[in-house]
Amino acid sequence: MSQLEKKLKPIVDAINKGKKVTFFNGAGISTGAGIPDFRSPETGLYANLAKLNLPFAEAVFDIDFFEDNPKPFYTLAEELYPGKYAPTKFHYLIKLLQDQDSLLRVYTQNIDTLERLAGVEDDYIVEAHGSFARNHCIKCHREMDNETLKKHMHDETKDGIPTCETCQGYVKPDIVFFGEGLPGRFFQQWDEDCDDVEIALVAGTSLTVYPFASLPASLGKKSLRVLINKEKVGDFSDNYRKSDIVILEDCELFAEQLSSMLGLRDELEALVEQSKSKFGTGKHISPETTVDEIEEKLKVEAHLHEKKEDDDITELTEKTEKIGLTEETSFNNKEKEEKAKARAEAKEKAKIEKLEEIANTYL
Ligand code: OAD
Repeated sequence: MSQLEKKLKPIVDAINKGKKVTFFNGAGISTGAGIPDFRSPETGLYANLAKLNLPFAEAVFDIDFFEDNPKPFYTLAEELYPGKYAPTKFHYLIKLLQDQDSLLRVYTQNIDTLERLAGVEDDYIVEAHGSFARNHCIKCHREMDNETLKKHMHDETKDGIPTCETCQGYVKPDIVFFGEGLPGRFFQQWDEDCDDVEIALVAGTSLTVYPFASLPASLGKKSLRVLINKEKVGDFSDNYRKSDIVILEDCELFAEQLSSMLGLRDELEALVEQSKSKFGTGKHISPETTVDEIEEKLKVEAHLHEKKEDDDITELTEKTEKIGLTEETSFNNKEKEEKAKARAEAKEKAKIEKLEEIANTYL
């Protein structure tokens, strides 16, 4: 048994006994998807914001700074806007635990919505730092829908900054900025869950931003606490609790190994495989564009398919003429009509399947 397997064994045993997992996620679970975390020294977002000319790195998410100058946030938002990245193995592990009724809750600091895209249901997710799902004017609080927000973000006459159509105040996605309170649901849900946490998986977070960072430390002694991170963080650093399990590994490796030991590895790999055809790699898949893109793709595919069949028919007609058969005897119209009908039905079916797939992802 490898060192990692030895560390994972108590977690596997607890899950197999019916104990439920609560996740405490940070940006490190999404680096495998290609999204930088915030504080890693060279690759983290805050180390790479020089081009935004900020007085201090975290100003990009600071509400007072945003009120004066929203441009740096919107420059970054272009990169971070959900839809560009596919979930990782770690995200799919959470979904598999949900499906086998081994999940209590997912507390996440991430605004990338990858837990949702992996298929974790709304009720299980607490987005502690909000998300891009809704947007409001910071002055009059009027809501702006996502489509209008994106139009404004791409409008050069507005310098890419969404402004309220009522009062001209700046509009901001409902991401929790420094200087703002966390969503009410965070506190209510924690109140409900805190005594029920059996297995706490704290993953990919530096545990530096409060109040989220205080959750693992506030757990009672009966919770099995596990840290999966590249470095020791929070009160895991001082070996505070003997029962803690500290796994200083990549989140993806952890997801592979734990899923293997739970007998879920094939399902995990199948989800990752499906994810490739669903999301592609590094391609925008926001709900609005996806439907259009898929319609367009289907049109191109249908055109190519039809062109090939027409070419085949021409070739076949030429051949039959060459050997002296009439078109009617070799390739009659009824057959042609049936083929066209079957093709139209297949096309419609493929379109409906794709649209259902999107609906399942986003509803
Ligand atoms: P940080 O960037 O502060 O911490 C990420 C942690 O994940 C670091 O300890 C990394 O070493 C570790 N890590 C990175 N990649 C990993 C991998 N593949 N496997 C294992 N560990 C890995 O990110 P958060 O703790 O999420 O706020 O940051 C908290 C908040 O600070 C964010 O929610 C954000 C930011 O300001 C808002 O967006 C409002």
